Amino acid sequence: MIRLTTKNITKRFLGLVAVNNVSFSMEEGEILGIIGPNGAGKTTFINLISGIIMPSEGVIEFKGKDITYMPAHERARLGIARTYQLIHPLENLTMIENIMVGSIFAKGHSLKEARIIALGLCDELSLRDVDRDTSRLTILEIKKMEIARALANEPEVLFLDEVMAGLNTEETKDIIAVVHKLARERNVAIGVIEHVMGVIRELTHRVMVMEAGEIIAEGKYEDISKNPRVIEAYLGGATDAETTKS
Ligand SMILES: Nc1ncnc2c1ncn2[C@@H]1O[C@H](COP(=O)(O)OP(=O)(O)O)[C@@H](O)[C@H]1O
Ligand SMILES: [Mg+2]
Repeated sequence: MIRLTTKNITKRFLGLVAVNNVSFSMEEGEILGIIGPNGAGKTTFINLISGIIMPSEGVIEFKGKDITYMPAHERARLGIARTYQLIHPLENLTMIENIMVGSIFAKGHSLKEARIIALGLCDELSLRDVDRDTSRLTILEIKKMEIARALANEPEVLFLDEVMAGLNTEETKDIIAVVHKLARERNVAIGVIEHVMGVIRELTHRVMVMEAGEIIAEGKYEDISKNPRVIEAYLGGATDAETTKS
């Protein structure tokens, strides 16, 4: 079942067209890769879907409902969640409190309910010692905490904006396993913005390639990775083997 669609969505910043006439859809349980060079418009596209910014043109629908100009907190309540490219843990709070914030704001849960939900998420993501201050967490734990905070919204659609950045190979594998599990067990539609092609290959069912605000290719990894336009735009002519070190 289709959860989310955009129709001809465009975002202009003064003279710059950051997202240009993008139409796409995501289905439940699907893991969609969103790739493209820096400045391609990937984060802006996620900002439009999550309601951080409003589009210049076009329509966004979630489960058949027009949400184009709906405020971000209402979209969160409906089931659209995301993590941020620049991680922003709330530094005076512990790990568990950071996660609880998600369900308190989006779902209006009590502190007690929020803690129970957050503990369940920590268990699911193998996060331990949940009352530690965020200054004592590893990068992997912070990334998982950010995912858990997004999951505390009980989302049906989740966007991860460069969540693997800064992780080593083992840690990346850990997050890949988490994402696969979320799509499979929670049936969440997951959009993954990621630069490492090896991660995209292992993780995604489908890939959308953006360049200069437009979708220039879309399809399975095996197909788009052979597309000359994608190789030129994204890989800068490099071969697949050279870009698969994850
Ligand atoms: N708030 C903003 N105001 C002006 N320009 C912006 C703003 N946000 C993004 N841009 C510009 O839009 C383009 C796309 O940026 P972004 O969506 O962050 O790309 P990506 O995530 O693919 O690297 C870039 O040229 C960027 O400088
Ligand atoms: Mg970005």
